[in-house]
Amino acid sequence: MLKERLSKALSDQVNAEFYSAYLYLGMSAYADRAGFKGIANWLHVQSREEMAHAIHIYRHILERGGTPSFDDITASRAEYGGIREVFEKVLAHERHVSGLIDGIASIALEERDHATYNFIAWFVSEQVEEEASAEELVSKARHAGDDPALLFSLDAALAARTFRDPFPPSGDD
Ligand SMILES: [Fe+2]
Ligand SMILES: [Fe+2]
Repeated sequence: MLKERLSKALSDQVNAEFYSAYLYLGMSAYADRAGFKGIANWLHVQSREEMAHAIHIYRHILERGGTPSFDDITASRAEYGGIREVFEKVLAHERHVSGLIDGIASIALEERDHATYNFIAWFVSEQVEEEASAEELVSKARHAGDDPALLFSLDAALAARTFRDPFPPSGDD
């Protein structure tokens, strides 16, 4: 049975993951409208992954006998000062999310809920990857600067990303 405090922290994380999805969808719209269809694709796939994270955490709350709560999701925006700003905001946001995930891991340990600690450990590792890929994109965008050729080669590279369900139904893998 999930302790009330942990149930609330996990529900807040469901909200944060949906906010991440909303944030990245707004960024994707910005990139699309600026003509960077590949970058828009990367951000859209990122948005879908965040929704998968939200649902995975929501399911854990129910599975452990907790009560999910549903707060408002903060508004997103679709205006940025350039691709570099977009990726800088992705990196800053992923660092923030890593802090939230670490906070849940700490509460799980304090509450001696080893099942939830084990569950959230996947997200701890995921955040290492999220920060690393965002850092790489920030450095590429900084390198490209305002050079259209470099920006469009980054755009072409990011067009290849496809969505892969991080939690496929059992039997699929
Ligand atoms: Fe996430
Ligand atoms: Fe993320």
